[in-house]
Amino acid sequence: MSKTILILNGPNLNMLGTREPGIYGASSLSDIGKLCAEACEKAGFKGDFRQSNHEGELVTWVQQASQDANFKGVIVNAGAYTHTSVALHDALRLLSCPIVEVHLSNPMARESFRHTSYVAPLAFASICGLGPTGYLVAIEALAKKLSN
Ligand code: DQA
Repeated sequence: MSKTILILNGPNLNMLGTREPGIYGASSLSDIGKLCAEACEKAGFKGDFRQSNHEGELVTWVQQASQDANFKGVIVNAGAYTHTSVALHDALRLLSCPIVEVHLSNPMARESFRHTSYVAPLAFASICGLGPTGYLVAIEALAKKLSN
């Protein structure tokens, strides 16, 4: 049994590094994945870092995590599905472990269609606008919550 933090990334986040660097920065998703792996290990967890462009695949991964006691916490950057996906919201409701929402940018400071989050009501924290550091803050916050 290995205590695992699942880190889910939604659509278009595989394009980080080249995608709108003025908004999302220069780091690639694999750069962020490496930072997360190190931070999880330091906090005593295994990091399971994934990305999908497919809503159903994200839903399936969340369902699987809800049935697997190794998963102690979930970090979600659902990309645009944050603002649209009732299916992902319903899947996240299956989890009994804590959830943190992360966004590289601050959606509240952007277009109004980004101001609704279907993830936020299920998360104990939403970390926005810190770039890749937001993932590290989320890992630290989860580790702290899980140690209480
Ligand atoms: C994002 C913000 C979303 O509005 C957008 O659709 C993304 C990235 C972020 O990390 O800032 O794909 O989740």
